[in-house]
Parts: sequence; C-alpha cells; structure tokens
Amino acid sequence: MSDTVATSAYSKDNPFPARVTENRMLNGPGSAKETRHFVVDLRGSGLTYKAGDSLGVYPSNRPEEVDEILRLLGATGEEPVLLPKAAAPLPLRSALTSSLALAGPTRRIVDTLANKATDAAEKAALQALLVPEAKDALTAWLDEREFVDLLAEFPSARLSPQELVDHMRKLMPRLYSIASSPKAHPQEIHLTVAIVRYETNHRARVGVCTTFLADRVALGSTPTPVFVSHSHFGPPEDPSKDAIMVGPGTGIAPFRAFLQDRGASGAAGRNWIFFGDQRRSTDFLYEEEWAKWQQQGTLTRIDTAFSRDQAAKVYVQDRMREQAAELWAWIKAGAFFYVCGDAKRMAKDVDLALHEVIASQGGMSPAEAADYVKLMKKEKRYQRDVY
Ligand SMILES: Cc1cc2nc3c(=O)[nH]c(=O)nc-3n(C[C@H](O)[C@H](O)[C@H](O)COP(=O)(O)OP(=O)(O)OC[C@H]3O[C@@H](n4cnc5c(N)ncnc54)[C@H](O)[C@@H]3O)c2cc1C
Ligand SMILES: NC(=O)c1ccc[n+]([C@@H]2O[C@H](COP(=O)([O-])OP(=O)(O)OC[C@H]3O[C@@H](n4cnc5c(N)ncnc54)[C@H](OP(=O)(O)O)[C@@H]3O)[C@@H](O)[C@H]2O)c1
Repeated sequence: MSDTVATSAYSKDNPFPARVTENRMLNGPGSAKETRHFVVDLRGSGLTYKAGDSLGVYPSNRPEEVDEILRLLGATGEEPVLLPKAAAPLPLRSALTSSLALAGPTRRIVDTLANKATDAAEKAALQALLVPEAKDALTAWLDEREFVDLLAEFPSARLSPQELVDHMRKLMPRLYSIASSPKAHPQEIHLTVAIVRYETNHRARVGVCTTFLADRVALGSTPTPVFVSHSHFGPPEDPSKDAIMVGPGTGIAPFRAFLQDRGASGAAGRNWIFFGDQRRSTDFLYEEEWAKWQQQGTLTRIDTAFSRDQAAKVYVQDRMREQAAELWAWIKAGAFFYVCGDAKRMAKDVDLALHEVIASQGGMSPAEAADYVKLMKKEKRYQRDVY
C-alpha cells in the first residue's frame, strides 16, 4: 500500500540525517501512558510529504545494552565483523549499535549455545528447550528474552563476535504516521509516538525506536536518519466530501494532519473525529487543538471514549454505535471513513461496528452491509492505516 517515491536525493536507502527540534510529552502527570510529540526538521532535505504519509526512522540501540553485550562477550567493540551483503567488515560496537537487532533471538542461537556450552548444567538446560515436546515452552521462553539474556544465562558457551552477529537480524527502520500537513508545516514533520517500556525476565526493556527518539536523540543535534514513505492513505481529494476519522491513542496522528490540511485549504467537507484513550484528565491528546478547530468550524464534531474513567470499558466503537443514525446519515451522503491505530483488536472491532451500523441503520442484511462496505473500499471511501 505504501512505497517510497524519490522526491529528493534522500530515500529509504539513503535516509536524510534530520534533526529533531521538539520532544514534548502529550500525557499529563499521573498518566499510565507516555505519548510524545516530536517535530522533525526537514530543511535542506528536499523531502516532500502529504497528509496521510508516514515517516521512516532508522534508530540505534541503547549504548548500555551494547556495552553489556560487549562485556559478556569479553570483546572491546573494535573487533571487525562482516554483515550479510556488506562490502567490508565494520567494528563490532558499530554493528551492534546501528545495524543489528538486539531483540528477537530464535531457536538457532539456542541450538548454537547448546553445542558450545561447556558447563553441564547449562548444556542440559539448553538441550531441554530444544526437544520437540518443548516447542511452545521454547517460544514462550524466547519471547521473554533478548540476546543479552542468553549471553548472561549461558556464560560457558562462549561465542566469538562474528558467531553472535551471525545470529542477529538487521535493525529495521520504524514507520510513524505523520501528524502534520505540509500545508501548515512545509519544512517540518510532526509525529505522535507511544514510547515502549516494559519488563520481561526481570529486565527493563525498551522499544528501540521510540526510546531512541524519546531518550537518545539530543534536540537540534543528533543526526536522525529519516525517509518519507508515501501512502495512498489521505484526506478526500474532493474537498467537499465529509470525513469520519476513528483514531484512538496514537491512531489520532494522521487525523491531526488531515485537519491541518483541510483547514489550510478551506475544504468545505465536514470532519468528525472519534478519539479514545485511557483517561480524559491525562490522555486527551491535543485537546486544545481540537477545541480550536471546533471553534473555527473545521472540526464539526469529536466523540471521545475514555476507557478507564468508569468501571466498564468504553471504546470508540461504542461511541459509533451510540451515534449510529448520524453516522449512517454521513456515510449515506458520501462521507469517507478512516481508521488508524492498533490493527490487532481496535481496527477489527471498529470494522465490525461499521458493518453493524450500516446494516441496522440502512435496513440491510449482514451480506448486503458487507457488500456496501466492499463498495466503500473500492471507492476509496473506507481507508485504514493500522499497525
Ligand atoms: C504504517 C505504520 C504507522 C505507524 N504509526 C505509528 C504512530 O503514529 N505512532 C506510534 O507510536 N507508532 C506507530 N507505528 C508503530 C511503530 O512503527 C513501531 O512499531 C513502534 O513505535 C514500536 O517501535 P520500537 O522500535 O520502539 O519498539 P520495538 O523495539 O520494535 O519493540 C516493540 C516490541 O516490543 C514488544 N513489547 C512491547 N510492549 C511489550 C510489553 N508490554 N510486554 C512484552 N513485550 C512487549 C513486542 O514484541 C513489540 O513488538 C506505526 C507502524 C506502522 C507500520
Ligand atoms: N496488540 C497490542 O499489544 C497493542 C496494540 C496497540 C498498541 N499497543 C501498544 O500500546 C502502546 C500505546 O498505544 P496507543 O497509545 O496507540 O494506544 P492503545 O494502547 O491502543 O490505546 C488507546 C485506547 O484504545 C483502547 N482500546 C483497547 N482495546 C481496544 C479495542 N479493541 N477497540 C477500541 N479501543 C481499544 C484503549 O483502552 P484500554 O487500554 O483501557 O483497554 C485506550 O483507551 C504502544 O506502546 C503500542 O505498542 C499494543
């Protein structure tokens, strides 16, 4: 659905070393979430974007984790290692920092460690994980671990730097839905990012890219390699069309861009947002901006679902069902319907609610409603940016 169009010298293969100029917490004190607003400066890149596109970011790993791996390997970091498709070797520290994923060990390294372990208890523990009956247990065990855990737990199985890196996957760029419009910010890209921090196997873990942006990029100075990933997701081309936008959590990002875009071009179509997050008092992302857009008439209505402000969960799809008649009136009149955010649960539940609203309000059977939704998709009136 998305691809990288060469609009400047910079691309996915040749990312622009951008500077991040703003890193602002969007949640209020006491929130369980850490959602941050970032501004990326595009000046000098020649990069262009449109509302609905995403930004690719190449992160680097935490130096503390790289140091711990080096210590466990007994390496200095200067050791040359050769990575697949690389023309020349590079120093181990640099490979572990910028080129390789330190998470996601697989069965293969357990097998290697089992072969190399010289301590009988370590060898037996590894071999026990490799028997066919332990398949599910091995998956669960690996899910709780990164490479550093394996090196720490099986010190007798000494790996050379090259042997370790041969088991690691490439560090991939991460995509972020752009939260700004070039009509309002031609030289900047704004992002809305949920910072990932959690604990497994008694260790504090971090999301690589979210904590790269939150903790390791120094404002205005650290080069941050980025590229624009162009997408077919975007506001209606016809400015007179109405837009219904469902974006809980960070899913709100592209709809901030849509409003900036439609506000700047004076698009006549109405805009309706469904937003949800945990608590109104701390998690109503960009609340003051929505109020401003409402006052100006660009945002026709915003319906919110704060899931943890009452005993029973309330989600965006509950608000859609409550507003079924009005929602159907908009859709019947040709509105575009957009969804952004969590793919695993939210987007499926919102899809179900959309089908139900169309069936109940449009007097259709489930099969007729499904055909109606199919047609909306074909006409690009139902678009999703989910992850
Ligand atoms: C098109 C697209 C648009 C996107 N837009 C946005 C956006 O606007 N904003 C945004 O914040 N993200 C967005 N994402 C997601 C983003 O690309 C990253 O996947 C996300 O930020 C995590 O990256 P990371 O490198 O910090 O985490 P990673 O290092 O990739 O770690 C994430 C992994 O950590 C593990 N994990 C996370 N939490 C836990 C936990 N509690 N317990 C156990 N394991 C856990 C899971 O295995 C998870 O897959 C988008 C993705 C796509 C594909
Ligand atoms: N599948 C996953 O494990 C998953 C999915 C998305 C995001 N995340 C992670 O969660 C972090 C924050 O993400 P985010 O800020 O974008 O938002 P989010 O965690 O997806 O939550 C936004 C809002 O959506 C609600 N929600 C939960 N399940 C839902 C459903 N089935 N339908 C509709 N709404 C639902 C949440 O409620 P409650 O939390 O109160 O239930 C919350 O109010 C990120 O670190 C991300 O990686 C994990």
